[in-house]
Amino acid sequence: MRRTKSPELHGKVALITGGARGLGAATAWAICEVGGKVMIADLLAERGEQTAAELREAGHDARFTPLDVRDEAAWADAVRATTHAFGKLDILVNNAGIATAATIEDLTVVDFQAILDINLLGPFRGMQAVIPVMKAHGGGAIVNISSNSTQRVSAITTSYAATKAAVANMTKSAAIHLAQTGTGIRVNSVHPGPHATEMLLGSDAKADLPEVRALRDAIPMGRMGQAEEVGAVVAFLASDAASYVTGAELFVDGGLTPH
Ligand SMILES: NC(=O)c1ccc[n+]([C@@H]2O[C@H](COP(=O)([O-])OP(=O)(O)OC[C@H]3O[C@@H](n4cnc5c(N)ncnc54)[C@H](O)[C@@H]3O)[C@@H](O)[C@H]2O)c1
Repeated sequence: MRRTKSPELHGKVALITGGARGLGAATAWAICEVGGKVMIADLLAERGEQTAAELREAGHDARFTPLDVRDEAAWADAVRATTHAFGKLDILVNNAGIATAATIEDLTVVDFQAILDINLLGPFRGMQAVIPVMKAHGGGAIVNISSNSTQRVSAITTSYAATKAAVANMTKSAAIHLAQTGTGIRVNSVHPGPHATEMLLGSDAKADLPEVRALRDAIPMGRMGQAEEVGAVVAFLASDAASYVTGAELFVDGGLTPH
């Protein structure tokens, strides 16, 4: 008899926002590689279709649906597209996000509202959209991608770090409510440190800039993370191996936060 729950997602269906590229695409691969099926949802249609096609070429079950996380009606469409394609929805990964760099003196209300609408209200709308579907199936797992900027800020993370800290606390409130009401839905947040994606570097050419080198040197493990290292942690939290984990913050940052 098998006594230990190792991370596996056979037959589980995941909706991944911002899954066209970066950490979201790596999460799609991680979920598929342990047996899951994925619906990639993103603003970037061409890139999202391409990522889904690459997954299918590797033998996985992956589709793309367009989604702007700022649009409540689009959320309903994405959830419907997922259940229509796969028959159910077990996992939501709220990964889509943007970064705005501005100090408290430079940040405008318009820019602050724009990032709140994506980074905070996006996951909020997503959770509200999937909870009824998950409840009807007796449970599910939601993973919200926050950031290690909940603990480590700089002068220019005024809006970004605020949205990510809010995501972490929203995650915990949702986790408590969904546990106390017996829904079988777990909610956790993942907090990546610096990862060499297009969000952070924009292009490979930036990888050798002095400020990027300084960022890398501050990490106790001496390197930035690989996107698949976030994907693996998300897949673990989404799996029954994490059946007693809810309301948790999991840092994936090479030791940067405690340093
Ligand atoms: N890269 C890092 O170092 C790092 C560190 C900590 C946290 N994060 C977080 O991880 C997540 C993914 O970041 P990444 O580095 O892969 O970034 P990325 O820019 O490479 O990818 C983000 C994806 O989100 C999509 N997106 C943006 N706005 C959207 C919207 N309104 N609706 C739907 N999709 C939208 C983009 O099209 C893109 O595909 C973000 O939430 C980010 O804040 C990243």
